[in-house]
Amino acid sequence: MAKKRVAVIFGGRSNEYDISLISASYIINNIPRDKYEVIMVGITKKGRWLHYIGSVEEIKSGKWVEHSDNVPCILSPDPLDRGFIETMPDGEVSRLKVDCIFPALHGKNGEDGSIQGLFQMSQIPYVGCDMLSSACCMDKEFAHRILESGGIRMAKWLPVRLRDLDRLDKRCDEIAQQLKFPMFIKPSRCGSSVGISKAYDIKQLREGIKTAFSHDTKVLVEQGIDGVECECAVMGNDKLTVSTVGEIMPANDFYDYEAKYTVPQEQTKIPATFGKDVIEKIRDTADKAYRLIGCEGLARVDFFYTTEGEVVLNEINTMPGHTPISMYPKLMENTGMPAQEEMDRLISLAFERTQL
Ligand SMILES: Nc1ncnc2c1ncn2[C@@H]1O[C@H](COP(=O)(O)OP(=O)(O)O)[C@@H](O)[C@H]1O
Ligand SMILES: [Mg+2]
Repeated sequence: MAKKRVAVIFGGRSNEYDISLISASYIINNIPRDKYEVIMVGITKKGRWLHYIGSVEEIKSGKWVEHSDNVPCILSPDPLDRGFIETMPDGEVSRLKVDCIFPALHGKNGEDGSIQGLFQMSQIPYVGCDMLSSACCMDKEFAHRILESGGIRMAKWLPVRLRDLDRLDKRCDEIAQQLKFPMFIKPSRCGSSVGISKAYDIKQLREGIKTAFSHDTKVLVEQGIDGVECECAVMGNDKLTVSTVGEIMPANDFYDYEAKYTVPQEQTKIPATFGKDVIEKIRDTADKAYRLIGCEGLARVDFFYTTEGEVVLNEINTMPGHTPISMYPKLMENTGMPAQEEMDRLISLAFERTQL
């Protein structure tokens, strides 16, 4: 049987560009070559798409972008093209057909449904969640509304809108009456802890809201949860593989950008040191939340296990990081699925999904 051609897309116009390069390197290195041929498409920070034929090492280091043999290419939304349209140096246009797309992209444009909408138009099978579930998981406010309506416990929260900036003191007073400090102020659709701050008083709340608005036009304030952070990896379309639970011990005051990508291995524990019943409760909730919001392919569901013994969902990441210290591949490995098998299964799930 001929090998299927998989296009791994990396980079992108997102504040998680650098993380995407590391995830992509891991993914490309682990796609089994006896079954798949891999082509690489990088998106620059400015948003230009380039067919890249260099080494994986240079994706990781960021040097890929300087290669003189990069060829501009775009994904055609026309299903008859079944792939990319390349513009050669002599101006000639050629087609690069692919069987499947693996978006190794995080955050804005890559994990928020935008690019998934393009994949859907092209009718090319792709790895991961579809447009709608990606968008709903990326928008923290939508995720709250959908998951809470299905009975999932999350932190108490309130929305803040741009128009509230004209009456910010009043809005902060209202928030302080309804939620307890410390609070977390978050841009609704950012990721990687960017723009998030923790407020211990009303002054910090005010400042935090202003900071969050410099990253997004939608902001929410959540009541702080006192507990341990933990994560569960889910894979599948209808029949799901739900991993055990991993525990995170952040070095900083919260799991901020720095802590996320510099935590040494010892600061995560797999499985978490909770009782069996708690682990099962977290796994059940991850399964339920994944289905409720319509995830397919893969997602990492993040929780707090509170000091009062409750399981509170924090967020769902539809393209979880795949860096060497990332939780998702580690959890899958712990479930008996090494990296090569994980990649093979994810690509197979893309082919199995019914795409109308
Ligand atoms: N309600 C909350 N209570 C306690 N800690 C929180 C809360 N919300 C966020 N955090 C902390 O901030 C980190 C980043 O928040 P999160 O909502 O996961 O944003 P991102 O999508 O950027 O990862 C979390 O991993 C956690 O450490
Ligand atoms: Mg998070």
